Amino acid sequence: MASYLGPFKRMGYLLGLLGVTVLAGCGKDLPQSVFDPHGPVARMQLRLLSLTMWLALLVGTVVAALSIYVAWRFREKPGDKGLPPQIHGNHKLEVLWTIIPIAILTIIAVPTVQTAQAVYNPPQGALKVRVIGRQWFWDFEYPELGIKTSNELHIPVGRPIELEVTSQDVIHSFWVPKLMGTIDVIPNRVNKAWMQADEPGEYSGQCKEFCGASHAKMKFRVIAEDPAKFEEWVKKMKQYSVTVDSDLAKRGQQLFFEKSCYQCHAISGLVGKTADGKEVEAKGTVGPNLTGVGSRRYIAAGYMPNTDENLKLWLKDPGAVKPGAKMPNLQLKEDELQALVAFLRSVK
Ligand code: CUA
Repeated sequence: MASYLGPFKRMGYLLGLLGVTVLAGCGKDLPQSVFDPHGPVARMQLRLLSLTMWLALLVGTVVAALSIYVAWRFREKPGDKGLPPQIHGNHKLEVLWTIIPIAILTIIAVPTVQTAQAVYNPPQGALKVRVIGRQWFWDFEYPELGIKTSNELHIPVGRPIELEVTSQDVIHSFWVPKLMGTIDVIPNRVNKAWMQADEPGEYSGQCKEFCGASHAKMKFRVIAEDPAKFEEWVKKMKQYSVTVDSDLAKRGQQLFFEKSCYQCHAISGLVGKTADGKEVEAKGTVGPNLTGVGSRRYIAAGYMPNTDENLKLWLKDPGAVKPGAKMPNLQLKEDELQALVAFLRSVK
């Protein structure tokens, strides 16, 4: 008996484990749970998801129950001989099982079309943001405000944010589970969507389309702030200037230009001298925009908390942290690493 039940027992454990895993994904305290919406778009999408999920569960339960009932009711009984009488076709049944699915699909179709319309068209008064997906980070531009930043998107609460989404290399997918569902990020195409946050907070986002070696590390944050605080940030970014106050940081600033970091990264308004004395501006676009990087919460596209240690780890060997990253290993020495960290801290 035990050996006969063996496979079932194992299947039971497996199903139990699967169930626990699935339920764990439904928790409310998780940073990327779609079951905990914090804005109108995410709420509309969750409503539609719940409707279809419950209807599917109802259909599944009814079909499973009927199958079990039929298997039991018409099982072979002692004394049965050969096949029971065979029936072909039943008009009543066929009409019924055509009408019921049509009714169910209609119930799903109407709110689906309504939701699709609503989540693609932002309400009046939206703030426009361009999202550019890159291997493996995010550029954010505010065309109306003249601000560019990367990996941390500041938004004011209570105001719709109109997103124009595109990619500069391969297909990515932009997703902030608590604020909005996914939107494809496709080269040579601009996709539109919008989102809005109800309350201030840090909302975790993630690329959701496999896009290469460091896809899993292509994260970002949406920082939703009270309008007044957002305006402060806008003001700071518009009149941005770096104040370097220690000798170590000053040395770091020199290195930023001597080691050619400026060729790939922009820091608004920052000017310096290259190794051969040429005056240049930090306005590279190959890597993330570093304006204000010192006050970001994370580095490496939301992958690591922005601590001195992590920053050093990243500068020392970017490819070890993020396989395939375009940032080269500059073979920096310990004192150079310390100086660059001190400098990047001042870029706040
Ligand atoms: Cu970008 Cu996955």
